Amino acid sequence: MKLLITGASGLLGINLALESMSEHGVFGVDRGKLKSPPFPISKANFFDSNAFKLALDSVKPDWVINCAALANLDECERQPGQAKILNADLPRDLATACAKRNIKFIHLSTDAVFDGTKEGSYTEEDVPAPQSVYAQTKLEGERAVQEVNPQAIVARVNFFGWSLGGRRSLGEFFVNNLSEGKNVNGFTDVIFCPMWVNHLAQALIAMLEKDLHGLYHVVGAQPMNKYQFGVEVARKFGLRESLIAPQSVEMSSLTAKRSHNLWLSVHKLSTDLGRDIPEFSTGLDGFYTQFQQGYPQKIRGYQQ
Ligand SMILES: NC(=O)c1ccc[n+]([C@@H]2O[C@H](COP(=O)([O-])OP(=O)(O)OC[C@H]3O[C@@H](n4cnc5c(N)ncnc54)[C@H](OP(=O)(O)O)[C@@H]3O)[C@@H](O)[C@H]2O)c1
Repeated sequence: MKLLITGASGLLGINLALESMSEHGVFGVDRGKLKSPPFPISKANFFDSNAFKLALDSVKPDWVINCAALANLDECERQPGQAKILNADLPRDLATACAKRNIKFIHLSTDAVFDGTKEGSYTEEDVPAPQSVYAQTKLEGERAVQEVNPQAIVARVNFFGWSLGGRRSLGEFFVNNLSEGKNVNGFTDVIFCPMWVNHLAQALIAMLEKDLHGLYHVVGAQPMNKYQFGVEVARKFGLRESLIAPQSVEMSSLTAKRSHNLWLSVHKLSTDLGRDIPEFSTGLDGFYTQFQQGYPQKIRGYQQ
């Protein structure tokens, strides 16, 4: 299949492209950060609302996965207008254009659409209550996509992996700082379900192959708090877990409000895919194996 990936320079975009290119024809779209990646890339800035149409009409993909976003929560608070364009307007326009061209479309949303006050896990039936500009604009995006393109997949995600700039994911945050002997905080009161980005990429491709549609939680099967995640990473990489101080997110200097419980149920996903979601420990093993094999340096080498 021909797969077009927007946001190909991002944490998900680059890993999704590399993961799926052995089986599918991958075409990336980015703003110009990627330098000679091992797949064709074209340049577009999505503040121009027509920029993606050129790519759609020249590549003529079977599938489009929209990984472009303004995904920095604090930046969204500072730039709400830009957040709306990228997180709400762009997915709506892409979903419309894909529906017209009969292209199967996946849009990425976030676990952060929930306010985190529920006891236990959130299902796709639970009512979102976004707490930040990021979460609000992402929710607007997922609703718009579902309205204009009911055949689309909307995937609420949370993942870790190696990024182009080396600093995008929480996994990298712990590895980088602990490797340098720096003290860091790990939030004990933010529960999430981290998924290794390659497992996310595999799940998205499987969802396309199964021709699923609608809203799905596509996260790891194991809920944990961010402190525990840091400790797991430290242990796997042989780093000092004592450098991680357990702390409340309420004590942090982060601008955007964070939800305390982002435990999302993956029951619908595993049922519809007909298989279990990979264990967290398998994903962490994969993340570590990539490190041993020089994967972080390899993908940083694709940066301009
Ligand atoms: N990371 C997570 O754990 C997480 C959690 C929940 C949801 N998500 C969602 O998952 C998706 C992918 O996230 P990510 O972590 O991979 O994000 P990311 O690393 O920040 O990547 C975002 C991508 O969007 C591109 N982009 C930004 N502004 C653009 C513009 N004006 N025109 C064209 N492209 C533009 C970026 O290009 P540049 O490289 O040039 O900036 C980059 O390729 C997003 O929808 C995000 O909301 C991520």
